[in-house]
Amino acid sequence: MTPVAIESPPTTDPNPGARPSGVSDPAAAAQSIQLMFDAIAPRYDLLNHLLSAGIDRLWWRRTARAVRPILARPDAVVLDLCCGTGDMTLALDHLRPQPLLTTDPLPLTPVSPILAVDFSRNMLSLAQPKFACRNIRAIEADALHLPFADASIDLVTCAFGFRNLASYPEGLAELYRVLRPTGQIAILDFNQPTGLMGALYSLYFKGILPLLGRLISRDPRAYTYLPESVARFPRPPRMMELIAAAGFTAPTWTPYTFGVAGLYRAMKH
Ligand SMILES: C[S@@+](CC[C@H](N)C(=O)[O-])C[C@H]1O[C@@H](n2cnc3c(N)ncnc32)[C@H](O)[C@@H]1O
Repeated sequence: MTPVAIESPPTTDPNPGARPSGVSDPAAAAQSIQLMFDAIAPRYDLLNHLLSAGIDRLWWRRTARAVRPILARPDAVVLDLCCGTGDMTLALDHLRPQPLLTTDPLPLTPVSPILAVDFSRNMLSLAQPKFACRNIRAIEADALHLPFADASIDLVTCAFGFRNLASYPEGLAELYRVLRPTGQIAILDFNQPTGLMGALYSLYFKGILPLLGRLISRDPRAYTYLPESVARFPRPPRMMELIAAAGFTAPTWTPYTFGVAGLYRAMKH
């Protein structure tokens, strides 16, 4: 599907970000979200695949394909932000040059490892076995305070993590800081579709999913938080306004699966 550039509505909330219910300030929101992911980590993969009927795998692969030209460059420094249990990272890695399989004559071009960042230790510890024998480095860090130098990264991907940041403008500013000129962002996240798909989405996301999630995850907050966080997340026009305000050029949003999810892309000049 062709990326769409949508005009933005006027700005409202000056510091939009995730706010789990009962939490009003950004620091408390970040802590509550970290604790929540630490708690649901052991059942995250099972729930994810089950509740999305496997569509999540298609979305990760599609996102990786969208940035294939950067992934194909051995020297490209790729950061998968909010990597969680690592499945988006693996989809990226499948499109990286594989150092051990190369048939190039010596000297081999070194392939930069993918940097996989998350602030939930429990999520990362489930990712680490998946990363074994792969050119991926897991790093425990906060997306709003990344341990990377200015202008050191070529591509930042973020799958279903950006929506959870306590401040979207601060998150985007941090991505802008670490990216090199011509570096790109690819942010995959949920959206609230409209029309018939919107009605089906509401039935599933606000009715069935929290019930199933509560039963399986045994954490009453987690799958109530999910639809609430999607409802709070800026719609594509507003998100693209925020992306542009952070300094990025040519933001686009490509809807996935009738707009249930979508990919934001933009470049740093
Ligand atoms: C819904 S999971 C997505 C995981 C993975 N990318 C995927 O597609 O399955 C969101 C992840 O974002 C992480 N996260 C949320 N806020 C973060 C922050 N400020 N810094 C780093 N990681 C964060 C959570 O710990 C969690 O692992």
